[in-house]
Amino acid sequence: MAIERTLSILKPDAVAKNKIGAIIARIEDAGLKVVAARMIHLTQAEAEGFYAVHSERPFFKDLVKFMTSGPVLVQALEGENAVQVYRDVMGATNPKNAAPGTIRADFADSIDENAAHGSDSLENAKNEIAYFFRSIELCPRTR
Ligand code: PPS
Repeated sequence: MAIERTLSILKPDAVAKNKIGAIIARIEDAGLKVVAARMIHLTQAEAEGFYAVHSERPFFKDLVKFMTSGPVLVQALEGENAVQVYRDVMGATNPKNAAPGTIRADFADSIDENAAHGSDSLENAKNEIAYFFRSIELCPRTR
């Protein structure tokens, strides 16, 4: 299986609930390693840029408003099959449909405030990681 990287954002609701450590424990327990991390309070322009692909969707304004409502923890994660593994650890977009034991089932309240973001493809992961991190900030985890 290929070693991949994916982008994770722990969203303002998860940060406000003080669940950063609990969520990172789930990530690490799934075999993924943190190779970069930064706490950031997104500006409107930064959130709009990140979610530009969704700009025509009805929830776009609400999504940007939520993502700029407080600090987030942005991380690049590394591991075998990291994109899919992290999506499995997060659970379904709507926490009501998320399997028990997943991040969204256990830490999210609604589809509007769903605790975590994860890249949905390897190509998007590369672009999303580059949106937040310079290559020099990514620390390969050899052990
Ligand atoms: S996904 O996970 O990307 O396949 O989900 P998708 O349905 O395409 O949603 C894209 C992002 O929009 C968020 N979303 C919403 N925000 C606010 N209100 C509503 N109704 C809503 N529906 C979807 C969803 O959480 C995705 O955000 P990210 O940060 O990518 O997880």
